[in-house]
Amino acid sequence: MSRSSRGSRAWLLALSLLIGGAQAETTPAPIQLASHCPPGFELTAGNSCALHSLYDQYNSLYNQGVGGLKTALPARRDGFSPQQIDLGRQLFFDPLLSGDQTLSCASCHHPKLGFADGQAKSTGIHGRSASRGAPSLWNMAFLTSFFWDARAKSLEEQMTGPLYAANEMGNTPTQLLSSINANSTYQRLFATVYPGEPTQPITLTQIYAAIAAFETSLISLNSRYDHYAHGYAEALNADELEGMNVFRSFVARCAECHTPPLFTNQQIAVIGVPEPPGQPFDAGAESQSHNPTWRGGFKVPSLRNIAQTAPYMHNGAFGNLRDASEFYTKGRGHALPEAEQARMTLHWHIWEPKLAELELDRLVDFMQTLSDDSFTPATPTQVPSGLTPGGRLPAALQGATNTTAAARLVSQGE
Ligand code: HEC
Ligand code: HEC
Repeated sequence: MSRSSRGSRAWLLALSLLIGGAQAETTPAPIQLASHCPPGFELTAGNSCALHSLYDQYNSLYNQGVGGLKTALPARRDGFSPQQIDLGRQLFFDPLLSGDQTLSCASCHHPKLGFADGQAKSTGIHGRSASRGAPSLWNMAFLTSFFWDARAKSLEEQMTGPLYAANEMGNTPTQLLSSINANSTYQRLFATVYPGEPTQPITLTQIYAAIAAFETSLISLNSRYDHYAHGYAEALNADELEGMNVFRSFVARCAECHTPPLFTNQQIAVIGVPEPPGQPFDAGAESQSHNPTWRGGFKVPSLRNIAQTAPYMHNGAFGNLRDASEFYTKGRGHALPEAEQARMTLHWHIWEPKLAELELDRLVDFMQTLSDDSFTPATPTQVPSGLTPGGRLPAALQGATNTTAAARLVSQGE
């Protein structure tokens, strides 16, 4: 062998090593599902995740009345496997779930915006407007009905709404099934998660169950308010405590509907929030139930992480917590057109408490103590489709155009 051919072989070897090395760097490791439970959950012998909360030590029989601190939580949904929850996380962030592969669930329920999207009304595929604002997804494990008008009775039933609505994700069951089944990574992951079940083909029930499992893992029960509720008196300052007392008072009556510890009693209430100028009247729960006393009625939303989810109400009518609080003190039905005032059955806890300016400020101080996103799950670095994890970002996170969102991110230290 001549010297020069030996030289060129060595060069070729070096080149192939280089290419090999480069490939190893660009080909990501295959997606593996977590075998541990999310924080706050304990892995039981049957490979299921059981939620633990300090609220479990309280018996609601011995609570201190409405708004009492040591009140137990309502029944919860848990018991999913770590793998099922983690598969749900992949699906939640995968834009493959939308008709045009641009939107994931996180496009409207973004972890940096309290699992909402910062918009008065959400934007679906092709820039189409949804009819209401996206609610936060924290603490879904405890809810018994879903949507602003409470029309879905389970998380599984709920998600068929956004998945197939033409103005949201715009997919169809047939397309969803064929795209998930055509993906070899999903085939592998579903087979891991549902070992006893046939996953050829993967079914809608299996897809929905995994997403529901992920949603029920979003737990926020460790705010400064909670520290106070569990007995750490210094967790709230004097202003916040004053706000809590206004919140719980029979004058303001906030806790009658936004009942701790979830800060919702899960009922429908007619409170008379106005529609923004030029927008059609939203009959809310009446449209679903055909019950005229529910005209303009909406599900009482939880106030957990409320500081992160402006604008407020089903239609984003109020841009900040001060305006949302002030609404309650201006008198029954004050914001409604006269014709609606006569037709709507406003809830008896909606009256005219005549709260002072300072009391409204304190209410805001108190609501800001309900923030806790310490259990925020990580956004996957890659999703099975190979599309950008999360898909289209909510407008508030696209560039620095929205100063409110930018300021919020700065205040979160990002
Ligand atoms: C285009 C934006 C958009 C996308 C994408 C979207 N949602 Fe929503 N979501 C909304 C809006 C708007 C509502 C409220 C609609 C209503 O009440 O009529 C909502 C409501 C919900 C609720 C009810 C919460 C409650 O408190 O009642 C859940 C749960 C939910 N979405 C989960 C999901 C999941 C899971 C996905 C992905 C499969 C998803 N969403 C995709 C906008 C979106
Ligand atoms: C009669 C029950 C009831 C009472 C009392 C009540 N609320 Fe509400 N609250 C609701 C309902 C229902 C909504 C949603 C209405 C809508 O979207 O049109 C809501 C929405 C809110 C929101 C916006 C939540 C979001 O996610 O957008 C805030 C903030 C709020 N309430 C604070 C308060 C405060 C502060 C008080 C006391 C001054 C109070 N509420 C008293 C039923 C009540």
